[in-house]
Amino acid sequence: MTPDERQSALETIAADVRGCTACRLHETRTLAVPGEGSAETEVVFVGEGPGLNEDRQGRPFVGAAGSFLTELLGTVGWGRSDVFITNVVKCRPPENRDPEPDEVAACAGHLRRQLAVIDPALVVTLGRHSLGSFLPGARIGQVHGTARPAATDLLPPESTVFAMYHPAAALHQGSLRQTLITDMGEVPRALLAARERAAAFSEGSTAAEPEAVAGPEAVARPGIAADVPAAMPAADAPSARAAASTSAPAPGADGEPAADQLTLFA
Ligand code: URA
Repeated sequence: MTPDERQSALETIAADVRGCTACRLHETRTLAVPGEGSAETEVVFVGEGPGLNEDRQGRPFVGAAGSFLTELLGTVGWGRSDVFITNVVKCRPPENRDPEPDEVAACAGHLRRQLAVIDPALVVTLGRHSLGSFLPGARIGQVHGTARPAATDLLPPESTVFAMYHPAAALHQGSLRQTLITDMGEVPRALLAARERAAAFSEGSTAAEPEAVAGPEAVARPGIAADVPAAMPAADAPSARAAASTSAPAPGADGEPAADQLTLFA
C-alpha cells in the first residue's frame, strides 16, 4: 500500500466508525472517536474507550489522561503524530463505565481493519481492557512494561504487543505515574525487537518463533538501559516505515475515568 492508499483506507474506516450502529453505544455517543495519528507509523497505542472530552471532540485521548499520554510520548522523544492512537471501543460508554464484552466484540472489526492498514510492528496496550483484547488472560500487574507476541486475531502473529497501565491510572494512583514513565522508556527498545522479529518472520527465520520474542524473561525492566537511547534517533522514529522496511533489522536487539474506571489496573 502506498502512503496515500493507507491514508485513504484509514479515512474510509473512520467514516464507517462515525456511521456505525453495531452496538448500543451509538445511541448515547455525541461523536464517535475513530483514532488519529500517522498512517505510516510502526507503533499503535490502543486505549479502552472515549471519555467525556473525547466524545465531545471526536478525538482520542484529549482529556487529562490524554495530556499524560502526550507527556509520556515526549519522554522518549515522540509526538502524537509519530504514532497512531485509538481505542478498543470507538464510542463512549455511558458514565465512563467499562465497555461490555459484546460492545468490544462489535467494535473489533473496526480495530482489526485499522491495524491491517497500518500493519504496525508494535501495539502498545493502555489499560486492562485493551490488554485483554491483545493478550487474553494476561494480568496487567504482571505483564506491564514487557513485550509479547500478539495472541489475538486482531493482529498477524509477527506483531508484538507491549503492555502498559492506562495513563488515567496514574491520575488516581500517583505511584503508577513513575511506573508508566519507566514502562514508556522501554517502548523504543520493544520497537527495535519488534522490527527484528517481524523481519525474521518475513524471512521465515526460526528467530521469529514466539519464544524468541522479548518477553518478561528476555527483557528486564531496568528503566532506560544505557545502550538504548531514551529518544529514538530520527531515522528510528516510529513513523519511519520506509526506512525500517528497506534497511537491515535494527542492531541488538477518558472525560476522564469515573470511579468505575479506577479498576483500569488489576
Ligand atoms: N481513555 C481511553 O481509554 N481512551 C481515550 O481516548 C481517552 C481516555
